Amino acid sequence: MAIDYGAPPLLDIAGLHLSIPTSGGDLRVLRGVDYQLWQGETLAVVGESGSGKSVSSLALMGLHPRRASVSAERMTFDGQNILGLSRPALRKLRGNQMAMIFQDPMTSLNPVLTIGEQLVETYSAHGKGSRAQATERAIYLLERVGIRNARERLGQYPHQLSGGLRQRVVIAIALMCNPKLIIADEPTTALDVTVQALILSLLKELQEEFGMALILISHDIGVVSSIADRVAIMYAGTIVESGGADEVIHEPLHPYTRGLVDCVPRLRPGRERKPLVTIPGIVPSLLGPSRGCLFRNRCPKALDTCAMTDPAVQRTASGRVFRCIHSEAVLHAAHTRPADPAPVAAGGRA
Ligand SMILES: Nc1ncnc2c1ncn2[C@@H]1O[C@H](COP(=O)(O)OP(=O)(O)OP(=O)(O)O)[C@@H](O)[C@H]1O
Ligand code: SF4
Ligand SMILES: [Mg+2]
Repeated sequence: MAIDYGAPPLLDIAGLHLSIPTSGGDLRVLRGVDYQLWQGETLAVVGESGSGKSVSSLALMGLHPRRASVSAERMTFDGQNILGLSRPALRKLRGNQMAMIFQDPMTSLNPVLTIGEQLVETYSAHGKGSRAQATERAIYLLERVGIRNARERLGQYPHQLSGGLRQRVVIAIALMCNPKLIIADEPTTALDVTVQALILSLLKELQEEFGMALILISHDIGVVSSIADRVAIMYAGTIVESGGADEVIHEPLHPYTRGLVDCVPRLRPGRERKPLVTIPGIVPSLLGPSRGCLFRNRCPKALDTCAMTDPAVQRTASGRVFRCIHSEAVLHAAHTRPADPAPVAAGGRA
């Protein structure tokens, strides 16, 4: 499906902050998150554990911890301001216009209800139609997500299905009300590798067929690189780089993105046999206010000034956005690698 970037975005988030009070002080989990998402688009949100990927999605669905305080310059979904919406109003949007798929299907499925009851319940809760219509749609969607003998499966309980089948059921539940947006939070992490690839390509296929927007959350840039239109890289509660997936992955600007890409052998053409790179150090504490770039203790390009000022948000001519004190030209030059040695001709010596 062609994405109309001239149209207003389906989701528009600017300056999203979220903090959670703890006994040690306020945990400033989101520190100004900005991103946009268009109808029919797949955005991959990538970052290390604890960077705020899940919380930022939970916040837009109103599923963040109740004690958290949330503020934003702008948070609209389909033209509607969702920041001021009450929890009941957000509940109406959830499942109906926005749906979420979590990492572990066993925790999102109710173990004491049959698959059929759970599919039908979603549809009925939003007043979409009769029970008979819900059952027909459930069968259609179970078949569509690749589950055979769908009618018989309706009477089964989650524990009677394999992990891969359970995640397909969760996807079918998410699709029951034909939502405009699906957020898939690490949807394949709990599954084995062969099933992971099948589930991801199924999600992409369904997204194109139903024309919905998809946010795919992952800690692994390699997993999402092939199906995302755009990528947003998250670090310590902010998006440090975002842009077209190909550009960001093949020519990363931000030093953190560069580090993430270098950690994935298959994203390093010609360098697969070189030692794997890791990002040294650990994610900083999110407690309390901070000054300067939070990546500075791990950054190979850090200067003294990185500790003193918050890095400015910069935009490239192609629309990529990154947060760093260095310019695009400096980062690009710094990341440009010396050419790999020419291949040795047959019979030659290395
Ligand atoms: N209910 C909560 N109470 C206190 N802190 C929380 C709560 N939920 C999340 N956090 C903290 O917020 C930060 C961001 O968490 P989040 O779950 O969004 O990370 P993530 O990027 O999704 O990580 P992962 O890849 O491990 O899922 C973490 O430091 C986490 O400990
Ligand atoms: S602002 Fe400084 S520390 Fe942060 S990414 Fe840029 S160079 Fe590194
Ligand atoms: Mg998470």
